[in-house]
Amino acid sequence: MLCTELERQSILSRLSGYRYTHTLGCEKAAIELARRFGGDVEKAAFAAILHDITKRLSKEEQLYLCEKYDIIPCDVEKIEWKMLHGKTAAAIALHEYGAPQDVVDAIACHTTGKAGMTLLDKIIYLADFIEETRDFDGVEPARALAKQDINEALLYCYDNSLFDLLRRGKLIHPDTMEARNELIRQGVPHTKCAEGSEAHT
Ligand SMILES: [Fe+2]
Ligand SMILES: [Fe+2]
Repeated sequence: MLCTELERQSILSRLSGYRYTHTLGCEKAAIELARRFGGDVEKAAFAAILHDITKRLSKEEQLYLCEKYDIIPCDVEKIEWKMLHGKTAAAIALHEYGAPQDVVDAIACHTTGKAGMTLLDKIIYLADFIEETRDFDGVEPARALAKQDINEALLYCYDNSLFDLLRRGKLIHPDTMEARNELIRQGVPHTKCAEGSEAHT
């Protein structure tokens, strides 16, 4: 067993407000996706409850954790420092909760995606995007796609996030570009994203 109910409650007690509700939604969505696509349900649930464990931290606290756990922020992350919560949460999952490497990896890439994602990586990225408390223009199509094809859903989510980043004049992480390009090269069918969608955070 990766995590007892007591440990699960202890992890959840570190979260509050919307982040707590979002994490429970993400856990539920990750379990559903793992069942649907033949993933490891226990690992999906464990990664989901830890994925935003450092999200509330300040820039200084994020950078402190980076230094502590040898995470070197890239040029984009130095500016868009909130993106670092994926990598710092992964470090906490490993060092404080002894999470297995595939769970750690899935948490680390949940903010940006990356090329070569495993099924578990995809489940966590998608669960974070479509969980039941999410409410933005593109979420329903994403949920519908996630019932059919995980890669089509993922491509739709990347497009929505990129569209929103472009609209808001934000930097784009190279891992997101590589992740999207890989799916296009693999011939994953493209679904047009909704106008006015917002990137999830
Ligand atoms: Fe996150
Ligand atoms: Fe999240």
